[in-house]
Amino acid sequence: MSLSIFLLSLVTIPLSLHAFPAPRGVLLNCGSTKEIVTTNLKFITDEGFISVGNSSTLKTPDLFPILSTLRYFPDKSAQKYCYVIPVIKGGKYLIRTTYYYGGFDGGNEPPVFEQIIDGTKWGIVNTTEDYAKGLTSYYEIVVAALGKTLSVCLARNGKTVSSPFITALELENMEASVYNSTDFTKYALNVVARHSFGSNDDIVSFPDDPYNRFWQPFMDNNPIVESHSNITSSDFWNTPPLKVFKSAITTSRGKTLKVQWPTEPLPSSKYYISLYFQDNRTPSPFSWRVFSVSVNGKNFFTNLNVTTDGVMVYGTQWPLSGLTEIAMTPGADIPVGPVINAGEIFQMLPLGGRTLTRDVMGMEDLARGFNNPPSDWSGDPCLPQNNSWTGVTCTTGKLTRVVTLNLTNFGLAGSLSPSIANLTGLTHLWLGGNKLSGPIPEMSTLNELRTL
Ligand SMILES: *[C@@H]1O[C@H](CO)[C@@H](O)[C@H](O)[C@H]1NC(C)=O
Ligand SMILES: *[C@@H]1O[C@H](CO)[C@@H](O)[C@H](O)[C@H]1NC(C)=O
Ligand SMILES: *[C@@H]1O[C@H](CO)[C@@H](O)[C@H](O)[C@H]1NC(C)=O
Ligand SMILES: *[C@@H]1O[C@H](CO)[C@@H](O)[C@H](O)[C@H]1NC(C)=O
Ligand SMILES: *[C@@H]1O[C@H](CO)[C@@H](O)[C@H](O)[C@H]1NC(C)=O
Ligand SMILES: *[C@@H]1O[C@H](CO)[C@@H](O)[C@H](O)[C@H]1NC(C)=O
Ligand SMILES: *[C@@H]1O[C@H](CO)[C@@H](O)[C@H](O)[C@H]1NC(C)=O
Ligand SMILES: *[C@@H]1O[C@H](CO)[C@@H](O)[C@H](O)[C@H]1NC(C)=O
Repeated sequence: MSLSIFLLSLVTIPLSLHAFPAPRGVLLNCGSTKEIVTTNLKFITDEGFISVGNSSTLKTPDLFPILSTLRYFPDKSAQKYCYVIPVIKGGKYLIRTTYYYGGFDGGNEPPVFEQIIDGTKWGIVNTTEDYAKGLTSYYEIVVAALGKTLSVCLARNGKTVSSPFITALELENMEASVYNSTDFTKYALNVVARHSFGSNDDIVSFPDDPYNRFWQPFMDNNPIVESHSNITSSDFWNTPPLKVFKSAITTSRGKTLKVQWPTEPLPSSKYYISLYFQDNRTPSPFSWRVFSVSVNGKNFFTNLNVTTDGVMVYGTQWPLSGLTEIAMTPGADIPVGPVINAGEIFQMLPLGGRTLTRDVMGMEDLARGFNNPPSDWSGDPCLPQNNSWTGVTCTTGKLTRVVTLNLTNFGLAGSLSPSIANLTGLTHLWLGGNKLSGPIPEMSTLNELRTL
């Protein structure tokens, strides 16, 4: 499911670029040739991060600047279209993709296609419903960089009719403590919902949130309270913005506070949930309250003592399916009702394995040796399995290796990189019908090689 935001027309947001440190990331305004500054952030052109696709400028007047250009991918033969972004190996990144169709191809309905991060299928991009409502769609995921680059790719599937496209791509480097109970060598965290409770204000984002995470306003039929104290958000591992503690949902004394959240039914999976609480009263020795938290009737945290300093509780690997109810039951004799300020919920997405680094490097060198490598020779060469590079087949399993290269009639010019000698899992190589020049590299290390 997509997240949506009303970000269509240019509302006046004060620009004060120098007032805030920029987030440590890469913000790409896809399909644009120049940089733009918007809501205190600098978006740059995506040229240099991708070598395929065409750009388009929407004719809709007064569009929010980021939305007015996009990159689209008409080439039906490519297995994927990849952005490759330099990152800090081992770093943790928030990635957001933004989509606003705008009828760029003359159609009425946005295409439906897939998103991929490195070798993992992230999910389906279906912006049909949001677009019909005049909304922009975005998707967010938190991943660890396992190498020196991260690839974010789009791909067609059986249901893609017109050209996949993308409006903006953002990567933010996050501190190590954020969501650190997750094993990021095995999982990515796919954002399902992130809300500031008791707020009907604008979305909270940068500079309130240092990583430009989007905290959507959320209200239900429960009473709302405002906070009368300040807290230090850096005391929380997940560094929620202070602004989300300004308001809360509560209920009257002695009652259980029930919140249906997130509002959408969830696919059966494991989830990471983190909830944020603060006693909203003026700080005093008596400004605290105790309640127990349960999720769908299952105990999440017993006798949580919520003070004016605020507290976060989280659960990882939490199984959920369908609708979710968070219930907060007050302890005996507590003179005020429970209170909740904010929440985040992520689907835990198992990583789809990876290709042996030696093979990835060998294939990248091979691609660099050709003057005209196939357009999809970018990102992971083998994974996801259905999106390996054209002409490349690989073993299956967690640590994948390149086994055959059939480059027959690719019309390749350039030379065959000596790094081919490093593809030690290669069993078959077909090179006929190309215009390669230069010496044939030493391949005696390829004991497995049978066909040439
Ligand atoms: C898209 O870009 C390719 C390569 O740059 C070019 O050959 C092609 O004509 C472009 N297609 C359109 C529809 O502009
Ligand atoms: C995309 O979403 C719309 C609205 O939710 C749905 O009707 C449609 O079937 C979806 N398309 C695909 C290809 O899944
Ligand atoms: C997460 O980060 C916090 C703050 O740096 C630290 O106290 C805690 O031990 C870390 N937890 C894990 C599981 O690494
Ligand atoms: C909270 O912080 C703001 C700005 O720093 C300050 O003006 C206000 O007095 C503080 N409120 C309390 C209750 O400490
Ligand atoms: C809750 O925390 C406050 C402040 O630390 C403390 O004074 C109070 O005794 C605690 N209440 C319970 C029931 O532990
Ligand atoms: C790969 O593609 C096949 C054929 O289109 C499809 O049946 C299968 O579900 C796909 N596998 C994955 C993991 O998407
Ligand atoms: C290699 O690719 C060519 C062209 O796509 C195809 O005709 C041929 O059958 C392939 N060879 C093998 C052994 O798969
Ligand atoms: C093969 O890989 C090794 C280690 O990754 C590297 O040092 C070497 O340069 C590579 N060989 C070739 C011919 O590229």
